Amino acid sequence: MSRMAQRVASFGTTIFAEINRLARQHGAINLGQGAPDFDAPSPVLEAAIRAICSQLNQYAPNIGLPEAREAIARHAERFYGQRVAPDHVLITAGATEAMFAAILGLSDPGDEIIVFQPVYDSYVPNMRMAGVLPRYVNLYPPDWTFDPDELAAAFTPRTKAIIINTPHNPTGKCYARHELEIIAELCLRHNVIAITDEVYEHITYDGVQHVRLATLDGMADRTLTISSLGKTFSATGWKVGWAIGAPELVESVNRAHQFITYSVATPLQAAAATALNLPDSYFESLRAEFQRKRDWLLEMLRSAGFQPLAPQGSYFIMVDWRGVAPEYVRNDVQFAEWLIREVGVACIPPSAFYRAEDKHLAAHFARFAVCKRDETLQAAAERLAAMRVSGD
Ligand SMILES: Cc1ncc(COP(=O)(O)O)c(C=O)c1O
Repeated sequence: MSRMAQRVASFGTTIFAEINRLARQHGAINLGQGAPDFDAPSPVLEAAIRAICSQLNQYAPNIGLPEAREAIARHAERFYGQRVAPDHVLITAGATEAMFAAILGLSDPGDEIIVFQPVYDSYVPNMRMAGVLPRYVNLYPPDWTFDPDELAAAFTPRTKAIIINTPHNPTGKCYARHELEIIAELCLRHNVIAITDEVYEHITYDGVQHVRLATLDGMADRTLTISSLGKTFSATGWKVGWAIGAPELVESVNRAHQFITYSVATPLQAAAATALNLPDSYFESLRAEFQRKRDWLLEMLRSAGFQPLAPQGSYFIMVDWRGVAPEYVRNDVQFAEWLIREVGVACIPPSAFYRAEDKHLAAHFARFAVCKRDETLQAAAERLAAMRVSGD
């Protein structure tokens, strides 16, 4: 008899691990995982070293280091005019723990939470572990818009919350203000809270502005805003995240967080304060640098014969690969395997972001990551160009 609990038995191992393994095995250029292959800015690295050498090595307060919570509150006001007291900021082990603690702290078994599909891969397993039922609302290509009627129909008397990830992984969609207004109106009408995942908040393209749902009328008290350091400061391995919002929401999340991790790496929280206090010029140059890389990768994918759907934000570009791969390649997983083996470039099959019965919706898509050094992108460009020549 299996010793594995029912709670986790259906999870399997993630496609991300499998793609990384295959990429290593075939020496492929990895444009799969959303982790930069360049380092965090040196003032942030130096702040962490200073903190370690300044005896900041014991448990931080459970809610987080005061200077980090103050920096998070200041950052929210600086970029979004969102006013939160530092006491209403909870520091977590990345956005991932913030989301799990939010689901555990804000919903009961049998409750429902609405998610948009494609859906970031940790939310639904989090819900399953909490005994919560997901309700899916689709985002439709090419613009990844949702049907307001489908969304309205997803609200039931059991709906506790809705999760919005913007900028969105894997599509790069940035929810427009008018879309967020539709969501806000439904939350108010059904007395539902919103949990947002804004880890790509500073990576937007073509002048698109990231809109924070919590700043819309009536939403301050019913939105839990989650974000983290990883993507904005190229430090995904640090796993420093946060949840901010109304006192009752944050207190509920902390009831779970205190018994999951209790508190987060102290010196990295000190460095988070330095990072979040960096001048506007840091955030501007990050955006410009990503715009340049995104434009370049878009162009190289187009020249290789893909049809990319230009993202408005995030680390990713979704492409339609039909016309690039041979006929025997039937779906996104086969395509990703083919690309690694035959071309030497790794991407992620986005069916990983769909439930079993909807995986066909992703069958002709692939997700490529922009967050790579120029040398990595150049190497990928050469392999993709060679594929085009040999395919002609
Ligand atoms: C949408 C989204 N949320 C959360 C995370 C993970 O954030 P963290 O590393 O802060 O836990 C990722 C990482 O890929 C992501 O894409």
